[in-house]
Amino acid sequence: MRLGKWVSLVFAVLFCGFMVNGSVAAFIPVDNYLIACGSSQNVSVQDQVFVPDSYQSSFLLESEEESFVAAANSSLPSPIYHSLRGFTSSFSYKFDIHQTGRHWVRLYFHPLPNSGHDLNSASITVLANEFVLLNNFTFKNQQSSYLFKEYMINVTSDSLTLNFIPLNNSVTFVNGIEVISIPDDLIADQASMVSPSAPFNGLSNLALETVYRVNVGGPLLTPQNDTLGRTWENDRKYLHVNSSAVIVSVVPGTIQYPVSVTPETAPNWVYATAEAMGNANVPNLNFNITWVFPVDPSFRYFIRLHFCDIVSKALNDLVFNVYINSDIALGSLDLSSRTGFLAMPYYKDFVSNSSTGSNNLSVSVGPDMMADITNAILNGLEIMKISNGAGSLDGPYSVTDLLPNLHSKKSKFGIIIGSAVGISAAVLLIAICYCCFVTRRSKGPRQAHPWLPLPLYGNSHTITKVSTTSQKSGTASCVSLVSSNLGRIFTFQEISDSTNKFDETLLLGVGGFGKVYKGTLEDGTKVAVKRGNPRSEQGLAEFHTEIEMLSKLRHRHLVSLIGYCDERSEMILVYEYMANGPLRSHLYGTDLPPLSWKQRLEICIGAARGLHYLHTGVAQSIIHRDVKTTNILLDENFDAKVADFGLSKTGPSLDQTHVSTAVKGSFGYLDPEYFRRQQLTEKSDVYSFGVVLMEVLCTRPALNPVLPREQVNIAEWAMSWQKKGMLDQIMDSALVGKVNPASLKKFGETAEKCLAEQGVDRPSIGDVLWNLEYAFELQETSALTDPDENSTNHIGGIPLTPLEPFDNSVSMINGVNSGTDDDAEDATTSAVFSQLVNPRGR
Ligand SMILES: *[C@@H]1O[C@H](CO)[C@@H](O)[C@H](O)[C@H]1NC(C)=O
Ligand SMILES: *[C@@H]1O[C@H](CO)[C@@H](O)[C@H](O)[C@H]1NC(C)=O
Ligand SMILES: *[C@@H]1O[C@H](CO)[C@@H](O)[C@H](O)[C@H]1NC(C)=O
Repeated sequence: MRLGKWVSLVFAVLFCGFMVNGSVAAFIPVDNYLIACGSSQNVSVQDQVFVPDSYQSSFLLESEEESFVAAANSSLPSPIYHSLRGFTSSFSYKFDIHQTGRHWVRLYFHPLPNSGHDLNSASITVLANEFVLLNNFTFKNQQSSYLFKEYMINVTSDSLTLNFIPLNNSVTFVNGIEVISIPDDLIADQASMVSPSAPFNGLSNLALETVYRVNVGGPLLTPQNDTLGRTWENDRKYLHVNSSAVIVSVVPGTIQYPVSVTPETAPNWVYATAEAMGNANVPNLNFNITWVFPVDPSFRYFIRLHFCDIVSKALNDLVFNVYINSDIALGSLDLSSRTGFLAMPYYKDFVSNSSTGSNNLSVSVGPDMMADITNAILNGLEIMKISNGAGSLDGPYSVTDLLPNLHSKKSKFGIIIGSAVGISAAVLLIAICYCCFVTRRSKGPRQAHPWLPLPLYGNSHTITKVSTTSQKSGTASCVSLVSSNLGRIFTFQEISDSTNKFDETLLLGVGGFGKVYKGTLEDGTKVAVKRGNPRSEQGLAEFHTEIEMLSKLRHRHLVSLIGYCDERSEMILVYEYMANGPLRSHLYGTDLPPLSWKQRLEICIGAARGLHYLHTGVAQSIIHRDVKTTNILLDENFDAKVADFGLSKTGPSLDQTHVSTAVKGSFGYLDPEYFRRQQLTEKSDVYSFGVVLMEVLCTRPALNPVLPREQVNIAEWAMSWQKKGMLDQIMDSALVGKVNPASLKKFGETAEKCLAEQGVDRPSIGDVLWNLEYAFELQETSALTDPDENSTNHIGGIPLTPLEPFDNSVSMINGVNSGTDDDAEDATTSAVFSQLVNPRGR
């Protein structure tokens, strides 16, 4: 019976890629060019691969001799800035367009120092078909050392040519280019003008340039968090009067998209946060919240306002006014009458009047005097510059003004030759390239599931790669490698040598399955060796299925299987060794130094990511069943990995046979609902994780029978303090004074929700993850701002400093995408390895 269960589980794992792809209608860009200019190799930026411009001779029309390249490890975080191609005359890139319509054109510039040219004073002019994107830009006198530009262009012909033109005998250059299709219905042809209020038609034939894209009340969203690769920054630096607004948020999962709005319109992270009117310490509730954006007054702007009523308890409670540049844009806006539901996204497009002559564009929301409840919200905001009558987004000149006198005969000739040569190659190469891109994209996480923040590891692409790496890192000797990616097969002799003949002094733990030893392979790699008790016929089958399943579960935050040995009726599993051991030993019961609050948050976030992958990363979700602080292991960098998964756990729908109805798990961590009804769901893991969170905060065991009755169980005890809002009274004394109150509050609320009596009332682990990231962000930003300011702020008032794009190290949801190929590689090649811990509780 158990065998059957395992077989079907493996079946499910194998086919999960398929099922998820089929069930979610994700946007798949037909054209998807990512180019690393002047690079000699592919450049990976998160889950994207930029190919060198020399990779396809058809991209770059001029001969390469006229160009120069430069590469350097600049301090800029995105590797796309580490190479460039420069030209002394004008040059162009041409992209075949397979589907006409709107496309992103994204450009990256950074004047690398070692090119042999003075790129700081280089002049950059960029034309895209009939539009002028940039006109005579130079880095001289600029504060920033790099430039990122995002344009949206309706390409109506079958190719897009980007011309880069140097002015006055100067040079010009570019570091990276993206040309990517956008869904046709993302931006309609029509929007509303304000003052005088009238419809504005004809947007589809105009070029747009992103100038501001703001996740109001929320964190920085990086391209990895957006199905269309957009960046959304926090709004605080644009708020006119900071104290006027408070942040409100719900878990992103509660956002319900109507048919007319999709995650492509804006991610649910945008709709799940907002700024609302603060009522604390504000004597007069009659005020507006205003955001002010510096703009070039000679252009019109497309303004998209995103709303989602996440504050009301009932329909028709929230009625407010929206102003653009002091003109009423939406009067008496009743969100719920537009959507029919709470927590449902709604957006509205406007075109600003160009005749205001002001260097600022402002957006305000304020109360409607007629409404009963005084409040107003804004969730998101996009401001895009609209091309002018000359088809330009920068200056008054048109393409025809700029092209003829600047293009020397020689370079025109170059274009013709280039085109002629290109055409023959282009047909074939672009087709191949296109296939490559589409194939790659269709395997990529963005497509497989647009808003699942984790890549789907069922896909063979990644798994194969991981296994190849681990095979490479395996050492020679008489090792035989399995072709089907199950990791390395060890001989018994190797295992015996690595553990000094199962020396009891190397024992790391003892559990239901057997003993765990610390081992050292011939090449010095440390491993954890788990030796099973003598096996039976059925045990053998299970053992094999376990290997098959475990080797497919690869994630940066799961302790990974390196290989196994099944010689001589042995059942031995070899795992990565985790140098810093179980989380628990860093909390209490040892002399190890206390972890900082940030470390604790990072560890919880890492563990939540691991669990999230188990729950959602494969089609048949896997329930850990034994989440506890001894099963969260720390590597040498204190990165958390979940251990001991998969040996006794199955997805719920496969559990119908009820092999064992006995409740498994560890006391103190057990979901009370599971205990009563013996029905296992992912929410049981969420409950246990809530216990872990409390343990991390209070540094005491989940159960401590020697304490007074009401304190024995941490879940009960900590909950009673959390409900009083006094969690700070019982937290680890080592943390006192070092935790930002807003961060602690968020953490406490998150743990409280996890510990809800009923599974349905608990959040998903994905939501838990999000909230922990938020708590981390709150702690992180408080460290950057003035401490006095913080002490007077309540949660809503914490300024979330907007972060530079690409500064992913502090991005709040950045690592949610962990488990890209890079990560997988890290996990296997970094030869640091694990211990498995005593699952005594079972
Ligand atoms: C670079 O990426 C392209 C497309 O993803 C791929 O076809 C090619 O093999 C890669 N080249 C290298 C050297 O990795
Ligand atoms: C692009 O322009 C063409 C020609 O004017 C128009 O028919 C089409 O609807 C536009 N596409 C989009 C997505 O705006
Ligand atoms: C909000 O701003 C608008 C436009 O500037 C103004 O007309 C209105 O009186 C303001 N409302 C309040 C309550 O200040």
